[in-house]
Amino acid sequence: MISLRNACKNIIRSASGLTVLSVAALLAGCGNQTTVQTETEASDDLISVAFSEVGAESDWRVANSESMRSTFTTENGYEFYFEDAKGKQENQITTLRNYILQGVDYIVLAPVIETGWDEVLEEAAEAEIPVIVVDRMVDVEDETLYTAWVGSDFKKEGEMAVGWLENYLEEQGNAEGDIKILHVIGTQGSSAQLGRTAGLEEGVADHENWEIIAQVQGEFTQAKAYEEVSEILEQTKDIDVIYCENDDSAFGAIQALEEAGLTYGMDGDVIIISFDATEAGLTACLEGKINLDVECNPMHGPRVEAIIKQLEAGETPEKNHYVEESYFTPDMLTEELIESRGY
Ligand code: AHR
Repeated sequence: MISLRNACKNIIRSASGLTVLSVAALLAGCGNQTTVQTETEASDDLISVAFSEVGAESDWRVANSESMRSTFTTENGYEFYFEDAKGKQENQITTLRNYILQGVDYIVLAPVIETGWDEVLEEAAEAEIPVIVVDRMVDVEDETLYTAWVGSDFKKEGEMAVGWLENYLEEQGNAEGDIKILHVIGTQGSSAQLGRTAGLEEGVADHENWEIIAQVQGEFTQAKAYEEVSEILEQTKDIDVIYCENDDSAFGAIQALEEAGLTYGMDGDVIIISFDATEAGLTACLEGKINLDVECNPMHGPRVEAIIKQLEAGETPEKNHYVEESYFTPDMLTEELIESRGY
C-alpha cells in the first residue's frame, strides 16, 4: 500500500515541468496549507534537496542562498526547493513539515536559533529523510536527529577578534588603558551570536581594563544596529571599540558614528571590529573604515553537496565539519584579493 508520504510525493512528481509550483491546492488532502516553491524542474531522475534558509538579513545570507542555488541546479542533477523563513523559527518548522510531507530526498536546514528543533527533526527521522544542518547549529537531545552539520566555529571567530584586539592595543601602546567596548549583538540564540558573544565576554573577563559598556541588539542588520548605536551615542560618546557581530551591523554602527560626528577606523578614535568579511565588509576594511573583519565563509552549497554525494554513495559523512577561517586587516587586503573571494 502506498504511504501518505509517497502519495504526496507522487502528486509533486506528476506536476513536473513547473518552475514555481503551488502545491497548496494539490496537497489540501495531505494537510498542507502553504505554497512551496521549487526552483528547478521536477523529474524522477533528480535528487530533491529542500532548503530552509534563515532569511535575507545580511549580505552574508544572500551569498549563502546564492551558493546553495548555484550548486543545486537541474544541470547538476537536483530538484531544488527553497524557502526564506524571514528570520522566524516558526516559519522554518512549517516549511520542514511541508518538505517532510512532500517526501523530499534531503532536507537542508540553516536554523535561525539553536534550540526548539527536537520535535520536527523527530518527524523527519520518522519519515526517514536525512537532515543536513548548515551554518548555525541545532541544540538537540539526540544528535542522531541530524545527519551532518557544516559551518563556522563562531566561538573561535570571537576569540580571533579578542586576540587581535589585545595585540593591536599593545602595538598602539594602549595595553593598560581603560577600554570601553560597545557590543552590537546578532540574532539572540543563534550560534553566530552565542559563539561571538562568548568569545568577547571571555576576553573581557581576562582583561581587567576592558569593559563592555552596553550590549545592544543589532539583529545582524544595518537598520537595527544603526538605531541602537545611535541611541547609545545620545547617552555617551566615550567608546573605544564597537564589536559588531557582522558586517551589516558594522555599517549601521558606522552610519551612527558619522551622524554623531565621531571618527572611527584606522585613522579615527573608535576601533571597529566586524565579522563575515563579505565583499562590502572587506572593501570598508581596505578603506580603513573597519579595523578588523573576521571571516565567516558563506559558500556552503558545494560543502552540502559533498555530504549528499557521500550519502548517495552509501558512505557516512563526518558528523560535524568546521570550515577553516581567518581574519583580515587593511594591510592584508587588495582589491584583487577581495574580488577573487566571490562574495
Ligand atoms: O550565521 C552566520 C551569520 O548570519 C552571519 O555572520 C550573518 O551575517 C548572518 O546573518
